[in-house]
Amino acid sequence: MIHLFEPAKQPGAPIFLLLHGTGGTEQDLIGLVSLLHPEAGYLSVRGEVTENGMPRFFKRLAEGVFDEADLALRTERLITFLEEMSETHGFAVDQLIPVGYSNGANIAANMMFEKRLFEQAILLHPMVPRRGLTLPDSSQVRVFIGAGTNDPICPASETEELTQLFEQAGADVDVTWSHHGHQLVMPTIEAAAQWLAVKK
Ligand code: MLT
Repeated sequence: MIHLFEPAKQPGAPIFLLLHGTGGTEQDLIGLVSLLHPEAGYLSVRGEVTENGMPRFFKRLAEGVFDEADLALRTERLITFLEEMSETHGFAVDQLIPVGYSNGANIAANMMFEKRLFEQAILLHPMVPRRGLTLPDSSQVRVFIGAGTNDPICPASETEELTQLFEQAGADVDVTWSHHGHQLVMPTIEAAAQWLAVKK
């Protein structure tokens, strides 16, 4: 998979798994790394699917309607890739903290629906990736969700449902709301950095 890797600057510092939104690349979210944690490293991956030339992490049938078979396949491939990277670069997969925006947040959430892989995750404008399944036990998992009250792509009701699903699985979920539609705004990133710094 096309990716960029930068080790953490200090042992024990986070390694962010950067997952871009539709039409993005592995370069897009790198600017967030130092804002979230000054010593962090990153593994930034480019989605393998393209939609009218725009990279994504899985196919969709329409806006907000996911191709579930492709989602399953791509989720599996991404998990395998993370396991390979962890061996190559000598980190544990649960040291990774996904930082996903939009389509990237959706595949991050779907990985978490599949397996207890991560201890913390930052999901920016996510949706419910799949319905009707039992999530793995997610106690001791912390999730930060940045959402838009007026996000036309990821409606607030999706955020509430996703929060509920993670909470029912035992996760500790914090939601920060912004009022700028689907845009990622600085106050959300600042809230995520604070959330990361304050371990409950
Ligand atoms: C998706 O397709 O994952 C969501 O609709 C968000 C996006 O537009 O990427």
